[in-house]
Amino acid sequence: MHSTISGTGCYLPAQVLTNDEIAVRVDTSDQWIRSMTGIRCRHVSAPDEQASDMALVASREALSAAGIGPADLDLIVAATITPDMVFPSTAALLQARLGARHVGAFDLSAACCGFIYGLTMADAMICNGTARHVLVVGTEKMSRLLDWSDRSTCVLFGDGAGAAIVSASEQPGVRAATLHADGSQPAVLNCAPYLGRPFIHMDGGAVFRFAVRGMVEAANETLAATNTSIDEVDWMIPHQANLRIIEAAARKLGLPQERLVVSVDHHANTSAASIPMALDEAVRSGRVKPGHNVLLVGVGGGFTWGSVLIRWT
Ligand code: ACO
Repeated sequence: MHSTISGTGCYLPAQVLTNDEIAVRVDTSDQWIRSMTGIRCRHVSAPDEQASDMALVASREALSAAGIGPADLDLIVAATITPDMVFPSTAALLQARLGARHVGAFDLSAACCGFIYGLTMADAMICNGTARHVLVVGTEKMSRLLDWSDRSTCVLFGDGAGAAIVSASEQPGVRAATLHADGSQPAVLNCAPYLGRPFIHMDGGAVFRFAVRGMVEAANETLAATNTSIDEVDWMIPHQANLRIIEAAARKLGLPQERLVVSVDHHANTSAASIPMALDEAVRSGRVKPGHNVLLVGVGGGFTWGSVLIRWT
């Protein structure tokens, strides 16, 4: 038994926040943000709009694209670092709001690599025969974790949700996956509300260097595991943190820029939601087609990093 992605969905909050609008609040400029990050704008959720609200819309869209209903789901995984509540989990709230059966539902905390972790879990559960259809949704209200007076972080992030239905398949969709974590440097990138630090703190330069290294390592591992050369990759869909990180990783891998899926320009960094939102855009715009090799690569706080290679079915 193999697994494949049978449907994707996306939700973006209505409010768009441009760089110029941020520049009214803090000492920054559209020119600085664009040239240093590639970001033009981001979506920001309404005060009463939570991670589960965004996940619900994206999940319904993914179910519809897969041609199944909530009752067909065997497991629900929500990758998020901005859950509605400490508990119940966002995934449990989603189970009830979708009207799914009383199947397993849990949140997964791997920051920006959360979707890669969730997809890998879904693939394992399907391949061992435990589940036939798994909902994996990355959903983030990053605006909640931002100090809007700190120009070094508030320009980088956005809100949104991206979902995928992972289904049992006779053809291998998910071909290989690799996961890593190294928790030895929490000072480099963290958010610690229980310790009195409710906002994202990061050493931007150190994160930048690690992100490029982690993406390249993870991509090379899944390619090697499947004997696939970078020339056979039709699309790389990396975590969308910074256009310069994405382009540097692609250069090191030898992947032409035109085979990159980029959404950081209009989504900014939406953490665990970034890869499934970019994937959904690439699928709906017709760029990703059956038979294509699609390389998903993530790096996030932790550090966490990993990759999944898919043959689109
Ligand atoms: N507007 C204008 N100037 C700014 C801003 C801003 N928004 N932010 C910082 N600066 C200034 C700094 O104060 C500094 O000024 P100085 O030279 O007078 O001291 C100057 O710009 C350069 O700052 P650096 O931090 O050294 O610039 P760097 O080249 O590292 O770029 C950036 C900063 C864009 C944040 C980069 O480090 C980066 O993208 N890092 C990755 C961070 C990231 O993506 N984190 C997300 C979470 S993790 C993940 O998703 C993998």
